[in-house]
Amino acid sequence: MTDPLAEAALAARACAYAPYSRFAVGAALLTEAGAVHAGCNVENAAYPEGTCAEAGAIAAMVLAGGRRIAELVVAGGGGEPCTPCGGCRQKLREFGTAGTRIRIVDPAGAVLLRATLAELLPHSFGPENLQGP
Ligand code: THU
Repeated sequence: MTDPLAEAALAARACAYAPYSRFAVGAALLTEAGAVHAGCNVENAAYPEGTCAEAGAIAAMVLAGGRRIAELVVAGGGGEPCTPCGGCRQKLREFGTAGTRIRIVDPAGAVLLRATLAELLPHSFGPENLQGP
């Protein structure tokens, strides 16, 4: 039995549009306010225009008025944990904190990796860095 956030990530993964890589990914995030938002990867014939599952979940959160990510689950395939790409780590940094909890699960919902956002993106650059002295 997987937890509700992992279930949401797996359900989103089932909606992935990934005809080119055939690598379906789903992501679900929990906001500090307690809302869940999910996204899937959406690929494109012009390959660089494809978007990651995490980006979709963040867009859904912002559309709903959410701002702070407490927890994220990413569900990918293959044998290796589907860790967020570099660009998505930075996108998550905008709305997360150093302690934002990230879990990577396999297609059955088994946890492959647990990390904090600070572990995935150390010494990061965020909104606070733009505040001048
Ligand atoms: N992908 C994600 O959606 N999230 C990740 O964390 C890693 C990779 C997608 C991008 C592309 O559609 C496919 O997986 C293969 O890279």
